[in-house]
Amino acid sequence: MSGVGKVLSDRQREIISRTESHVKDVLRDDSTGHDWWHIARVRKMALAIGRAEGEDVDLYVVELAALLHDISDYKFNGGDLEKGTRVSFEWLSMIGESEGTARRVAEIVDTTSFKGAGVSSVMSTVEGKAVQDADYLDAMGAIGIGRAFAYGGYKGQPMYDPDIASVEHRSRDEYIRRNGTTINHFYEKLLLLKDRMNTEAGRMLANKRHAILEEFLDQFMVEWDVRDL
Ligand code: ADP
Ligand code: NI
Repeated sequence: MSGVGKVLSDRQREIISRTESHVKDVLRDDSTGHDWWHIARVRKMALAIGRAEGEDVDLYVVELAALLHDISDYKFNGGDLEKGTRVSFEWLSMIGESEGTARRVAEIVDTTSFKGAGVSSVMSTVEGKAVQDADYLDAMGAIGIGRAFAYGGYKGQPMYDPDIASVEHRSRDEYIRRNGTTINHFYEKLLLLKDRMNTEAGRMLANKRHAILEEFLDQFMVEWDVRDL
């Protein structure tokens, strides 16, 4: 266990370090918003939120789950929704982690990903809440805007099209199969995250980042509607 003030054992440090190298290897060339630096930011933020949540948080599980949370995203693995969970569990078991810990981490990986505006994915553990909030925060604010446009470019979708309306996706399938624009993604996901935060610290940070999204959208529309001088 590694709550506040508790030091990781040598074995735990070794597991973290091997997992970090593995994740770096797997995500090295990613240009879809899931590059290593996304993982590095989520890891730091999840640990910071975990510490703020108090003594009982197992920071070892938080760190492992943050490192592994995007190891095999369904959007890039041929649509397999359970693969990330399976891969996380198998990886941790293979490098000698206990079945119990591997299961706790894999469950967080399963629940972390956003599955559509009308689909709730409720995190039951405080460790998972910290990781999910950190992942949500990285999709908001200045970095969130940058990631959205990077993803849109990778997908080849339009930046904006006033003739394509945004949709509230009612199921995970609908969300996965959607065809849209990057600006619509703000309405379909990014602006909804503020009200989905799980922790007090996450909610505080989300307010500022949400305001930045709104300010960006306002300015985007001002610039879109070119008027006579
Ligand atoms: P996360 O790693 O935060 O769970 P996702 O896997 O949903 O995020 O997506 C990776 C990044 O790409 C996020 O910043 C997300 O907002 C962005 N993204 C996902 N789908 C779209 C889309 N259809 N249009 C623009 N950006 C998107
Ligand atoms: Ni992520």
